[in-house]
Amino acid sequence: MSYQPKIIAFFCNWCTYTAADLAGVSRLKYAPNVRVIRVMCSGRVDPQFVLDAFAKGADGVLIGGCHPGDCHYVEGNYKALRRYQSLKRMLNDMGIEDARFRLEWISASEGEKVKTVVNDMVQQLIPLGALNLPQRFLDWDKEMNLLEEEIHTKEKEQQTKEELVYA
Ligand code: FES
Repeated sequence: MSYQPKIIAFFCNWCTYTAADLAGVSRLKYAPNVRVIRVMCSGRVDPQFVLDAFAKGADGVLIGGCHPGDCHYVEGNYKALRRYQSLKRMLNDMGIEDARFRLEWISASEGEKVKTVVNDMVQQLIPLGALNLPQRFLDWDKEMNLLEEEIHTKEKEQQTKEELVYA
């Protein structure tokens, strides 16, 4: 079977979650790669939730919230947008590609948009392959250990040189 990316989706209860429900009821077929986690507002999505999802093996994370001006908690989605932008920069620095993290405004009546966004995200993730962050963490740990060893060796060499000079 070909590679199938795993996507964790945090959907706002009042809009995108309802839209996903509508998509299901309307029998709009979207890729089965998504595990939806219902949150009360997109502003409830702590950056740690996103990092945890990637750290535990997600290939992509999708946040779905109410359109600007429609948030039931007034400004939750603006907060989500600010967090999204800064988290995206941080993820880029970690080498995590743009397509792996996405924020979309999807109202309760936009079941069709859920389908389009999910299918589109899956299509963008397939060529990227598995993120495999748990393995990358292990590789980074190895690199750090090697670097530490190298520094210790250099320090020892320097110390020996100094001891010889002052002997
Ligand atoms: Fe939906 Fe805030 S209630 S984004």
